[in-house]
Amino acid sequence: MNASTPTPSAPSAPTPFSTLIRTASHEQHTEAENSTFMSDLLGGRLGVAAYARYTEQLWFVYRALEEAADALADDPVAGPFVRRRELRRVAALEQDLAHLHGTRLGGGADWRAALTPLPATAAYADRVTEVARTWPAGYVAHHYTRYLGDLSGGQIIRGTAEKTWGFERKGDGVRFYVFDSIANPAAFKRDYRALLDALPVDDLEKQRIVDECKRAFALNTAVFADLGRQFPLTA
Ligand code: HEM
Repeated sequence: MNASTPTPSAPSAPTPFSTLIRTASHEQHTEAENSTFMSDLLGGRLGVAAYARYTEQLWFVYRALEEAADALADDPVAGPFVRRRELRRVAALEQDLAHLHGTRLGGGADWRAALTPLPATAAYADRVTEVARTWPAGYVAHHYTRYLGDLSGGQIIRGTAEKTWGFERKGDGVRFYVFDSIANPAAFKRDYRALLDALPVDDLEKQRIVDECKRAFALNTAVFADLGRQFPLTA
């Protein structure tokens, strides 16, 4: 090559999908994190009843996520994300709710009969169930939004909840945040991101997954808004 030939620039590597989805949802993440309800809850300004009501909403959402997981375990797109042994949360949520209602709030053993989803929670769970049935790649967006979040910021929420309401460390009340079957969360998250990067779908489908992820964040924010209405701070 002589001096006058321009050096061909190396084709830039495409952004890994795991980076794309994280970056694209960053704004929605900040919005969810800074919602009035979350700020009040984690700022220690709300009682344990608000925390219990929030945990109930998670129970409805994870029931939808995990009922769908069973049907999607062998799906070529969503199947690899379904790690039931490591991730499943419904049993942990039920232990937390039994403690919250039975012991903390004095509601007795029949707590389950009294649970109702807030309107935004019902809409969120319905959306999860719908995409799981019709669009496995869309289910991946919901799976990512919840489980990777629980493995990340969820750990901050656990520490704050333990301090604020006096739960035993990693015990009843915060079991939802404890992933006993994941010995190395950092490695698990690395593997999870590698699965995202290897998703067997084209760019257009990836964009649709990103859009569904933003929708998943918005559905979470709507749940916080409903909870905020139920637990307003009296100034
Ligand atoms: C007060 C509430 C929250 C706090 C303090 C918080 C904090 C964090 C932190 C510190 C990370 C770590 C990022 C990393 O590993 O580099 C994270 C990641 C994440 N959070 Fe949250 N978060 C909160 C709420 C939420 C909510 C409501 C959702 C959605 C339902 C969510 C979804 C995620 C996701 C999906 C990730 C993984 C991003 C990635 O690495 O791809 N977070 N969060």
